[in-house]
Amino acid sequence: MIQFSEENLKKVNELISHYPEGKQKSALLPVLHIAQQQFDNWLDVPVMDYVASLLNILPIEVYEVATFYSMYNLKPVGKYMFEVCRTGPCMLRGSDDIIAYIGEKLGIKPGETTSDGMFTLKTVECLGACGYAPMMQMGKYYREHLTKEKVDEIIEECRTQSVNLN
Ligand code: FES
Repeated sequence: MIQFSEENLKKVNELISHYPEGKQKSALLPVLHIAQQQFDNWLDVPVMDYVASLLNILPIEVYEVATFYSMYNLKPVGKYMFEVCRTGPCMLRGSDDIIAYIGEKLGIKPGETTSDGMFTLKTVECLGACGYAPMMQMGKYYREHLTKEKVDEIIEECRTQSVNLN
């Protein structure tokens, strides 16, 4: 059964309490983050429906938001998610080559996850770190000034050590 843990439910209710009656939808983004964190880093339809019921809104209102923002995953993802920026400044600094290189190394295309469940490759729009292009996000951290050598190091790091994502 889909249900927030007691601790998360407390957090959710606290978030909802910040808004007047009838405006619970305003808490949707942070509530989806909590949901994603609890439910294996992705938002399955029953999870989104559960969030809708808690916020007293229609499921479609949750789907609209969850499908709009790239930070919400709509299918299972790997332990390490490489979210590579592909917007103009990063593209001018070679993000296309970096995306292709990661794909080649891991044997996956953007949007796919390796069969061992270790890595997901995703392309995203500007992450506000254009001065460090090309770059990608991994968990809560940015990896900047990417080169093929750096990509090799990062993949090796993920395979051999427990990389902190939080
Ligand atoms: S264009 Fe890549 S971080 Fe802004």
